[in-house]
Amino acid sequence: MEGQIDTKAHELQELLDYLKGSRGFDFSGYKKATLSRRIEKRMASVAVPSFGDYQDYLEVNPREFTELFNTILINVTSFFRDPPAWDFLAEGVIPRLLRDHAADKPLRVWSAGCASGEEPYTIAMTLAEAIGDEALKAQVKIYASDLDDAALATARQGVYSNDALKTVPEALVDKYFEPNTGGLGFRPDLRRSIIFGRNDLIADAPISRIDLLVCRNVLMYFTPEAQARILERFNFALKPTGFLFLGKPEMLIAHGELFSPDSLTWRVFRKVHGGNRREALAFVAPDAEERFPRDGGVRVAAGALSPVAQIVVDHRGLLVEANRRARDAFGISESDIGRPFQDSPVSYRPADVRSAIDRAYEQKRPIRLESVRWVDPAGHDRILEIEVAPVMGTDSEPLGASLAFVDVTALARLAEDYQRARRELENAYEELQSTNEELETTNEELQSTNEELETMNEELQSTNDELETMNSEVNTRAVALDRLNLFFEGILSSLGVGVIVLDRIQRIQVWNATSEELWGLRPDEVDGRDLRDLDIGLPVRELEDAVARTLDGSAGPTEQHIEAVNRRGQAFGCLVRIMALRTRAGDIYGSMILTSPITNE
Ligand SMILES: C[S@@+](CC[C@H](N)C(=O)[O-])C[C@H]1O[C@@H](n2cnc3c(N)ncnc32)[C@H](O)[C@@H]1O
Repeated sequence: MEGQIDTKAHELQELLDYLKGSRGFDFSGYKKATLSRRIEKRMASVAVPSFGDYQDYLEVNPREFTELFNTILINVTSFFRDPPAWDFLAEGVIPRLLRDHAADKPLRVWSAGCASGEEPYTIAMTLAEAIGDEALKAQVKIYASDLDDAALATARQGVYSNDALKTVPEALVDKYFEPNTGGLGFRPDLRRSIIFGRNDLIADAPISRIDLLVCRNVLMYFTPEAQARILERFNFALKPTGFLFLGKPEMLIAHGELFSPDSLTWRVFRKVHGGNRREALAFVAPDAEERFPRDGGVRVAAGALSPVAQIVVDHRGLLVEANRRARDAFGISESDIGRPFQDSPVSYRPADVRSAIDRAYEQKRPIRLESVRWVDPAGHDRILEIEVAPVMGTDSEPLGASLAFVDVTALARLAEDYQRARRELENAYEELQSTNEELETTNEELQSTNEELETMNEELQSTNDELETMNSEVNTRAVALDRLNLFFEGILSSLGVGVIVLDRIQRIQVWNATSEELWGLRPDEVDGRDLRDLDIGLPVRELEDAVARTLDGSAGPTEQHIEAVNRRGQAFGCLVRIMALRTRAGDIYGSMILTSPITNE
């Protein structure tokens, strides 16, 4: 089982490498589970069992690439997708965006992963509602990008069916759309504010100086690493006052250093400048001034007993104090007190604190060393935060420095676990949403297949109706034909002579009851047989020439007497008349032989 999974993963990777090498599409940033499901969907459509076979199939059928890319780049979208989020954008974001924005400066919007264009047109309508058509035309540029060329081509046309427009309020449809071939088209004067272009969020440079970046339901398809790279670019793309608007599944929990939530409910974020999430741990290192009072006394004693390892160095670089915790942790003995601090191992391990002391003196403020890894005397891995605070004299000259070594191992692990859990939650949520979107696509596909089946069914029903009508006509004709047959059979058997009708190559077509009576063979025994092959009492070979001449028209009707033997073996004289059968136009289509015994009277 494990081996099978390995082979599958290996073949998938080879297929992805092949797609990158042959078509330049790099899907390495996409979530493997989604990718694998989407590719398998195509494989099922073309009945190919494994990724390896599918690669062969692609090599032989290059058209399949388009189908595959369309399937991978799920472009489910709609106008005003998640309406309450768009309400928040209109009422809670755009007014602030406009307030902080000079009216004479262009307002730049980027719709990244715009699919077939519903999103950028929604943005255009929302902005036009806020600032009016003229201001939109004069001031706003909406850059709309996607990786999928086919989706972009639809987006550029800006023509949508009534069904696609059903999520747009009627008043907006009337105001912003005009009748067009194939549906309703976005008003051309406003359409010019939107610029469509191809941009690969993973590989291409971002568009810059953006006021509003809308990237909804796209990030969830990417791995956390690819998401991190894209978000760094988004951070760069946005102006300091800019907003980022994501989709419902995208919570951006793990990227607090790049974006801070403006409204987590509606997935609106703001750019963070130079922030650092590790600062969240700062509160665990209390201010050095408080821990080391200048007047000694009780508070000094308390400092000595503190659970935080603390050391004091004076301005000459001598170690003047180390509390119990520091002595135990760093092996400082009584004899080290009063000696140069630089001789003590703690000055360079677990971190180089001497340069931190120099910086603290220089900058006259505490310096913090974060996430310092250290193995404690019991051999356990620990994480420390070291705060080096200058102790300033009244003349603003440093009297010395206090060093606090705060063990934040538990907290850091907790924070890591917490981040990991949130990231996993975020991933699971995104995975759920993308599966949901896949299901939506599959559902749509099923619906259209269903519609096709219904159409086919209707076609079949109408063909069936036609067939039934034809069938009843055929039945009516068959009844008429039976009646006609009976009529002719009656005539033929009442004639009292043997009637044999041959076609142009002397095959028997009619053999009446008198022929049966005379020659002993039933009609079904002779039907379609060559007359010359019959072994009967009538010497058929003697008639062969005469029959041939009537058939080719070289002779008229003939009559001859021949000796024959009837079915009871009795010889008798037989009168044989042979004549051609002609159509009304005179063409010969067969020959008729009449036989009757010659009587003496
Ligand atoms: C589910 S649609 C979202 C459309 C729209 N933003 C919305 O929320 O309705 C995802 C879109 O992302 C696009 N996409 C996928 N990978 C991309 C990439 N690397 N760069 C740009 N667009 C990408 C797909 O082509 C697809 O149109």
